[in-house]
Formats: sequence, C-alpha cells, structure tokens
Amino acid sequence: MKLRRCTTVMFEPREEVSLGLQAILAGRAEVTTKTTWLALAAHLDQAVPVSVAQRELLGALSSRQWTESSDMVATQADQDALLEAGLLISDSDEHAAHRQRDEGMRDGHWWPLAALVHRHARWSGVNSAAQMRDSTMLTAKDLRRQLGAPPPVVQPHPGTYQPLPAVNATGYDQLLERRATCRNFDVARSIDQAQLAQLLQRTVMAQAVVQVEADTAFLKKNVPSGGGLHPTETYLLVQRVEGLAPGLYHYHPVQHALVTLPRHCDRPLQDVAEAMLSGQDWFSNAAAHLVLVPRFARTNWKYRNHAKAYRALLLDVGHLSQALYMAATEAGLAAFVTAAINEIDTEAVFALDGVTQSPVAIVGVGWRSDTLDTAEFDPNKVVWP
Ligand SMILES: Cc1cc2nc3c(=O)[nH]c(=O)nc-3n(C[C@H](O)[C@H](O)[C@H](O)COP(=O)(O)O)c2cc1C
Repeated sequence: MKLRRCTTVMFEPREEVSLGLQAILAGRAEVTTKTTWLALAAHLDQAVPVSVAQRELLGALSSRQWTESSDMVATQADQDALLEAGLLISDSDEHAAHRQRDEGMRDGHWWPLAALVHRHARWSGVNSAAQMRDSTMLTAKDLRRQLGAPPPVVQPHPGTYQPLPAVNATGYDQLLERRATCRNFDVARSIDQAQLAQLLQRTVMAQAVVQVEADTAFLKKNVPSGGGLHPTETYLLVQRVEGLAPGLYHYHPVQHALVTLPRHCDRPLQDVAEAMLSGQDWFSNAAAHLVLVPRFARTNWKYRNHAKAYRALLLDVGHLSQALYMAATEAGLAAFVTAAINEIDTEAVFALDGVTQSPVAIVGVGWRSDTLDTAEFDPNKVVWP
C-alpha cells in the first residue's frame, strides 16, 4: 500500500483550562491546563487529536508523492489511526472515501487557510436561537449587561470635521429607508410566482452571457462579482408561492427557470428551514428561502491558491443579499439574511457535497405580518409606524 499526507493540514496546540477538583475541595482555586495537538484538515469536518509522534509522521511525508507503507518509520498503530482519521491518504480501495474528498479539495485550488476556515466553521445541528435564549442574550440591554460596553459607534479622528450638505431625498432614499430585516412573516399569505420571478430576475438572473470560447462563458448580472465569475448558485426552499408546488428547487440564471429537486426526508418544509436556519423560528416561515451557495472551483479557477479568493466570494454573497433585500422591498415584500446557518444540514437537504459547493448565507422573502412578535430594528418607525 502506498501512502501520502493529505493535501491541506495544519496543527493547533489547543489548551483546555480546568479547575483542579482536589484544590477546590481543599478551598483553593487552582487552574490546570492541558494542551492537545489537533490536526485541522481541509477535507475533514472535525479537528483530529494527534500525538506528537503522529504529528511528526505527517510532517515527514509529502502530500504529492507516494511512499510505500513498508518504507515508513512509524508504528502500525499510528499508521492505522491516521488512515482511519483521513489524515493519511492511501491508494487502496478501503480508503477511497477520504482520498476522493482530499482530491476534491486539492483540485479546488483553495488557499489553504481559507479552505480550513470554511470547513471548520460549518455547523450541524446547532440551535443558535436556543443558545441565545439560554444565555439571555436576546436584547441590546442583555448584551450590554453581560458583555460590558461595545467599542463606540464611531472612532473620530482628531481635527475638525467639515459638514457635508444634506441632499434632498429621492424615491431611492425612501426605498432604502423601507428596508428592514423582517422577523415577522405573514404565514397566511403567499407571494405570487411573478413576484418570485421578478426578484430572481433583478438579482441572480444573467442579464447577458458573454461567450469567450466555446467552453468559456461569463455572465453579466445586476450585482458585482469578484473576477466577474458569479460563482454563487441559488437553491430555493419554497413554502408559499402561488403557482409553485412547495418544495426544493434550483434556479438556472441563464434560462431564468426553476427545476424541482428531490427531497431526501419527509419532514415538513418549515422544520427543514428551521434546522437550516439554526433554530431561528422567526425566519423559518418566510414564503421562500434562497440559499446562496458558491461553487468554489469557479472562483478558484482564476484565483488559484489566492489569499483573497474566499474573501471575494463572501463579499459576493453580501452583495447578493442586499440586492435581494432591495428588490423585495421595492415589490412591497420583506426580506432577511442570515449567516447563522447549519451548513452541513443544508448541504444534506440539497445534496451538496460540501467540498465543491457549500452554503454561505440564506435569504428569506415574504409578506410582512401586521403584528410585531419578534423585534425588528426600525428606530425611525418607517416599517412599523
Ligand atoms: C451577514 C448578516 C448576518 C445576519 N444574521 C442574522 C441572524 O442570524 N439573525 C437575525 O435575526 N438577523 C441577522 N441579520 C440581520 C441583522 O441583525 C440586521 O441587519 C441588523 O440588526 C440591522 O437591522 P436592519 O437590517 O433592519 O437594518 C444578519 C445580517 C447580516 C448582514
């Protein structure tokens, strides 16, 4: 059997601090620390504890060239443990799953730190809403009480600030003012298919296709995109859209069309949405959810192992979400965006592999309810007069 190290792995000395029980019983507060070496690999969802010998073994191996396992200076137990964990990659069928994920990462041309950030920030089964409730971190006053004062809203520079003229408001200013994150959707009211179509047409639809070669095309959209690559796909979870069966869809930005996707579980759609939204029930009953899913290889095709590629990708998703907010607001609808999502659960819903495609944010749209149950931020009383 031939072996190599996985493509991207970094090691963290993680320190755990605990209070010594014996000392507490003896009335002393004695802090003990324990350091464990963790291997963070870009193709694995979890950090893997490793011994110093295992860490050294990985450091001595190439990620590109195979080594015969019989030539390795390592105990069988260490080899087996690292193979099992996926940190060592082998050419055998038995370890094909780890090898394929590792090759997927390698072929994705990731900048290593970005690959690790994305992979290890993904959640599964997190209930951020329950965590907020349990820690009583719900209101701004709660935050202040528990965290102290935040840094000030502005950090002025020394000197005299020169006042700028207040320019008369136009319709665009009024539209901007009406945008507020919606946490109260009207569950009795559907949106029209035409409203959803308009929203997609204004934001994620291709306004032009520029064919550079037979196999190379670029899209023009109403939102900017790093490198003009528009890597972000739109997946939909539709609950209340007149003329569209509730379910899962993928949007085709060139055809301006939706295709139905298979459902892999029979849980009610609102429960599926709530799980994706890490328990945020104030968002889960939107009429439609748009899951924004970059295809990393499209950006990394141009920006190979590039330190800014992932940043550009995240900024793209930010532009998309603001464009969706504005398009929804103009149409009289309400919207939200959240990055507090269970990426791993969302990948399972839409059968995404999490290596080549993985969600970054979810936007929801629908009619706003007449009653304010969950707080919205509307200090100028534009939305809730
Ligand atoms: C990247 C991003 C993530 C957000 N995540 C959440 C979230 O998880 N839950 C939530 O209730 N609001 C979320 N929001 C909405 C913000 O709380 C909201 O934008 C902010 O309070 C200002 O209110 P406004 O959008 O109405 O002006 C998010 C907004 C952004 C831009």
